[in-house]
Amino acid sequence: MRVLVTGSSGLIGSAAVRHWDALDCQVLGVDNDMRSTFFGPQGSTRWNLECLESETKNFRSENIDIRDRETLLNLFAKYVPDIVIHCAAQPSHDKAAEIPFLDFEVNATGTMNLLEATRQHAPEAVFCHMSTNKVYGDAPNELPLKELDSRWEYADAADWNGIAEDCRIDQTMHSLFGASKTAADVIAQEYGRYFGLKTGIFRGGCLTGASHSGVELHGFLSYLVHVAVQGKPYTIFGYKGKQVRDQIECSDVVKAFEAFANNPRPGEVYNIGGGRGNAASVLECIQKIEDIGGYKIDWTLGEENRKGDHICYISDLSKLRRDFPEWDIQVSLDSILAQMIEAEEQK
Ligand SMILES: NC(=O)c1ccc[n+]([C@@H]2O[C@H](COP(=O)([O-])OP(=O)(O)OC[C@H]3O[C@@H](n4cnc5c(N)ncnc54)[C@H](O)[C@@H]3O)[C@@H](O)[C@H]2O)c1
Repeated sequence: MRVLVTGSSGLIGSAAVRHWDALDCQVLGVDNDMRSTFFGPQGSTRWNLECLESETKNFRSENIDIRDRETLLNLFAKYVPDIVIHCAAQPSHDKAAEIPFLDFEVNATGTMNLLEATRQHAPEAVFCHMSTNKVYGDAPNELPLKELDSRWEYADAADWNGIAEDCRIDQTMHSLFGASKTAADVIAQEYGRYFGLKTGIFRGGCLTGASHSGVELHGFLSYLVHVAVQGKPYTIFGYKGKQVRDQIECSDVVKAFEAFANNPRPGEVYNIGGGRGNAASVLECIQKIEDIGGYKIDWTLGEENRKGDHICYISDLSKLRRDFPEWDIQVSLDSILAQMIEAEEQK
């Protein structure tokens, strides 16, 4: 079995590499450390590539830019993957406004390049596309909410499980990142529906884990653990710190890709996040880190929220659980935090 992983040095990509390498598959990574171009040296994922190279048996990686169509076509013609896990992206909501063309070229055109290379040279392959809940823009904020002591909560009991895949994706404010990812999401669906390619579209909530290179503009939980352990200040962006996110550990994301690869449904869309069980507000996460790690976080509340940011976002996992009953969340939020704190302490 040949697996091709884009963004292989990043959080989700590296978890996919480890997973399929452990299953004795051949794994080819595609990553050009563009994260250091987006976020500077602290955002670089090269350290993770070095870990992968020392830990794995059947992995090699190519320093290829997914914007480079010809090189990708040649690579797919030679390698002919059975599974493509597409995780390379400009991942930040806020950063995209500073680099609008680069954001679109990586997220939208880069995805198109990979889909077309798959269609031309590996049409039988399963293609898992890592999308985002930002495709819904700020439409989830239209649900009625109530304010509790430490979090915003859905006011209507019918919304308890969170946001499902039928939430609308147009006529909402996405941020440029959300718009470029929406283009990629829809085109990946289309390669499934129109061409019959085995594409699966996974709309992530907050994806996290100890190998996240968190920075202020992306990877909130990882960055929060970083500032806690390193004794740096932290600013919360608006909503009184009561904004709710659902956190999923990267290995649970990869297991969903595997379940899809075993039983692909071309063009299907799935929300994937920690769901109700792993949902917490920023204030609650701060409290948990203080309780688990014994740190005191020096945080302040900024008045202004990030444009288009969700107030309460919980991924409804019902469709994923229904289509893949063997899949479920394995790693709790407390375990995620404990692992992240330990990893940060060892840096
Ligand atoms: N982390 C989250 O909270 C989250 C939430 C929802 C969706 N997602 C999506 O999941 C996917 C993976 O996210 P992640 O957190 O692992 O990101 P990440 O930033 O940790 O990893 C992405 C990797 O892609 C590489 N890359 C970027 N541009 C590239 C290019 N042009 N060519 C080759 N490689 C390139 C980067 O160097 C990096 O190593 C992305 O599509 C992201 O939008 C992430």
